[in-house]
Amino acid sequence: MLRALYDAARKTLDPVHYDYVAGGAGEERVVAGNEGAFDRYALLPRVLCGSEVRDTAVDLPGARRAAPVVVAPTAFHRLLHPGGERATARAAAAEGAVLVTGTAATTAVADVVAAAREAAADPAVWFQLYLHPRREVTEALVRRAERAGCTALVVTVDSPVFGRHTRDLRNGFTDLPPGYAAENMRGLPGAPPDGLTDIPMSPSLSWRDLGELLHMTSLPVLVKGVLHPADATVAVEHGAAGVIVSNHGGRQSDAVPAAVDCLPAVARAVAGRVPVLLDGGIRRGSDVAVALALGAAAVGVGRPAVWGLAAEGEAGVRAVLRTLCDEYDHTLALCGGRRNTDLARDMVVRKGETW
Ligand code: FNR
Repeated sequence: MLRALYDAARKTLDPVHYDYVAGGAGEERVVAGNEGAFDRYALLPRVLCGSEVRDTAVDLPGARRAAPVVVAPTAFHRLLHPGGERATARAAAAEGAVLVTGTAATTAVADVVAAAREAAADPAVWFQLYLHPRREVTEALVRRAERAGCTALVVTVDSPVFGRHTRDLRNGFTDLPPGYAAENMRGLPGAPPDGLTDIPMSPSLSWRDLGELLHMTSLPVLVKGVLHPADATVAVEHGAAGVIVSNHGGRQSDAVPAAVDCLPAVARAVAGRVPVLLDGGIRRGSDVAVALALGAAAVGVGRPAVWGLAAEGEAGVRAVLRTLCDEYDHTLALCGGRRNTDLARDMVVRKGETW
């Protein structure tokens, strides 16, 4: 099912836009590594302890009883399908999944939340942002997300500088074509005459800037792009409501480990104080199960949701989410589980290392 949507997306998309989504930094070793890492893990089931009825819902900041699969923030949905972020929002809401809409969305956050509300009474939409070196710009973005009705913020911290996307550089894809814009960046304080502020990336940002963000809002703030367990500890100590283990889908550094390989140490460091999420390389329900067994409360999917959107719009995103959640529930049953927490650390082994 997911393979068919991927094939359809590949056929439909302008090859330059396909490359933008599929590609990553450098030689794309991390893009391949994220997916490949799951091939090295296996699940060691327990027997005679399952149930006809299984509960796979998760409680996350600003999202009660959500699907265990979250739609990770990805840019430019209107470029990839005419339905754009609105279609993604309706799909996620209809499937009970959290949508993380981003600073780089081609639809303003208020319109994204409104679309989600067309599909569900109480959808959970989180807003992803980059910290701006000018505090008032960050604050303006935060107020937009709050006014729109977002239930949490996600601050991406793995982008002190922009990743070198090899395919985009080769294709000359460096800007959105005319008619599309990162709508959330319009009309911010100090905006230039065209009204649009560049999405900021600054290596001089620090934990102090994160602290300021935490003070300017009462929304829960999750920190996305943590790989080192010591950073997870610092994030929690600053008051983060969640930690997202992520290497940006291999789009920043091409020298980092696979995201899932960093998860156990981060989960140990966080020690249950806040939820830990993982994204990068999730392509099937058993990947979700491995991540949850290794300590994730939920997982995010970036490219799979985009392939669904490009192939079939809202229905395609729904199909991706439903397939992953159905496969995960099936895997949980095969592991003898009734609920997510039945997937224990000792049920994940490295292939070939079970004795
Ligand atoms: C991303 N990702 C991303 N992350 C973020 O914090 N802000 C952003 O604007 C974007 N934009 C973006 C665009 C595209 C096209 C992709 C593929 C990814 C990263 C994303 O949130 C997530 O970390 C990865 O996509 C997860 O890996 P998979 O699921 O794509 O393997």
